[in-house]
Formats: sequence, structure tokens, C-alpha cells
Amino acid sequence: MSKMNTEQVLSVHHWNDTLFSFTTTRDPAFRFRNGEFVMIGLEVNAKPLLRAYSIASANYEDRLEFFSIKVQDGPLTSRLQHLKVGDPIIVGKKPTGTLVLDNLKDGRNLYLMGTGTGLAPFLSIIKDPETYDRFEKIVLVHGCRQVNELAYGETITKDLPEDEMLGDLIREKLIYYPTVTREPFRNRGRITDLITSGKLFEDIGLPALGREQDRVMLCGSPAMLVDLRTILESADFVEGNHGEAGEFVVEKAFAER
Ligand code: A2P
Repeated sequence: MSKMNTEQVLSVHHWNDTLFSFTTTRDPAFRFRNGEFVMIGLEVNAKPLLRAYSIASANYEDRLEFFSIKVQDGPLTSRLQHLKVGDPIIVGKKPTGTLVLDNLKDGRNLYLMGTGTGLAPFLSIIKDPETYDRFEKIVLVHGCRQVNELAYGETITKDLPEDEMLGDLIREKLIYYPTVTREPFRNRGRITDLITSGKLFEDIGLPALGREQDRVMLCGSPAMLVDLRTILESADFVEGNHGEAGEFVVEKAFAER
């Protein structure tokens, strides 16, 4: 049996010159946990050219959604950015990943901290009813260089609070904190600096990060992950994985495209 499904592109959205999203059909037998990634790609010279992509849709939705950068000379994204409705796309059958709720111990607040396309797995997690069952507040922090990279801002602040199933919970529990480093915006600065200065917690009205009450998921560039991991480990947070639930989990945003 083939390890891949061929899906069809249902929609494409270009956020700016460097970022786009698309949705595809979903094989009814394809199952995943919110926060996981899967190999996807295109057939190039009669061979599949695949990269890991976090699934940005929730596991109860009938389409799959992906959020991608556009690299002009990237083997895959130089082609993927030209996707049109109706085009075929290859989707692997074995989703996996560490950014799943099962890998976290119970806690009061859940912090989802992502830079760039590292937002993608969290889009799936904030649509999961279990997230709201398990945590009192969910803080989604998205760090970007520029304002026009803050993709999905309107989805998070306008559409999700109106969602028929989850709207009430989202309005009560979800705190969205976008921050920009290289131009003016209401929130400025790197996520790391916002944590160490305490500015993030001041702004959202929650106590400074502590392993007693907080759980954290990280997804972004390797440099950002190193620095955030250092901050968490020096506060004695223990990393979780598939063997054992912990106080934080990490996945790099897949950037080799
Ligand atoms: P900065 O503009 O100060 O580099 P990138 O596009 O390079 O992946 O960066 C996405 C966002 O992550 C930017 O806002 C960038 O800030 C920030 N960032 C980059 N490196 C780090 C780091 N080591 N710790 C925290 N944030 C970082």
C-alpha cells in the first residue's frame, strides 16, 4: 500500500511576499493529533519532493491546512507557492510530532510560543476542545519581524471567538499576544525579552512564568528555541516527550524548504 495520499488543493491564501497558506482535501482515513506534522509535497521529475509541515487545521475538520514560507530558490516552496485550486498535492500517511497535549502534565495556563510559521501547530491546538478542558488560560504568543507576517491574526481575534462550538471557551480563555521586532506595533520585542523583562505577563495580567502553574509549547527558529529552552530550564521546567509528559515541549519550525 502506498505511504502517501494524493489530495487536491481547495484554496490558497497569500499573506505577503514570503508567506502563504493553503487547504486541501483530506482522506477520510487520515488521522492525526492536533499539533502534529506530516510530510507533504509535489512530484518533481517523477519523484516525490517532500518536506515536513505542521498541520494548521484541527483534527475534526474535513480539510487539511498548511502555512508555508516562500523561498525563491527553495526546492519545494519555489514550486509550492504557485499552487492553484484543483492542483494535486502529496500528503504522507504518518503524522507525528511532540507538540501534543498528551506530552504535557496538567497545569493552570498553557503558553504557545511561536515565531514565523512556527505558529502553524498552535492554530490546530487552539481549535481543540481538550485544550480548553485542561487549561484555564491559553496564551498564544506569535513573534515576527514585521506586522504583515502576523498571519491569522484576524482568524484568531474575529473568527474563532464566533465559532459555534468553541466561541464561548475561546472568548473566556484564549489570550492572543502578537509581537513584532523590526517595526512599530502595539507589542514590540522578542519573546525571550518579553519573558525576562516581565512585560508579557504585565500586559496579559498573569503571573510570571513558573513550573508550578504553567505549561509551554515552543515552535520556531533554532536560535529562538535555544534561548527559550535556556530560560525554561533555568526555571527548572522539565521537557516532555512521548515517553513522559513534562512541563514544556519543543519542535523546530521546519524551515529547510
Ligand atoms: P529579531 O527581528 O530580533 O531577529 P526569523 O524571521 O529570523 O525566524 O525571526 C522571527 C522572529 O523571531 C523575529 O521577531 C526575530 O527577532 C525573533 N527571533 C530570532 N531569534 C530569536 C531568539 N534567539 N530569541 C527570540 N526571538 C528570536
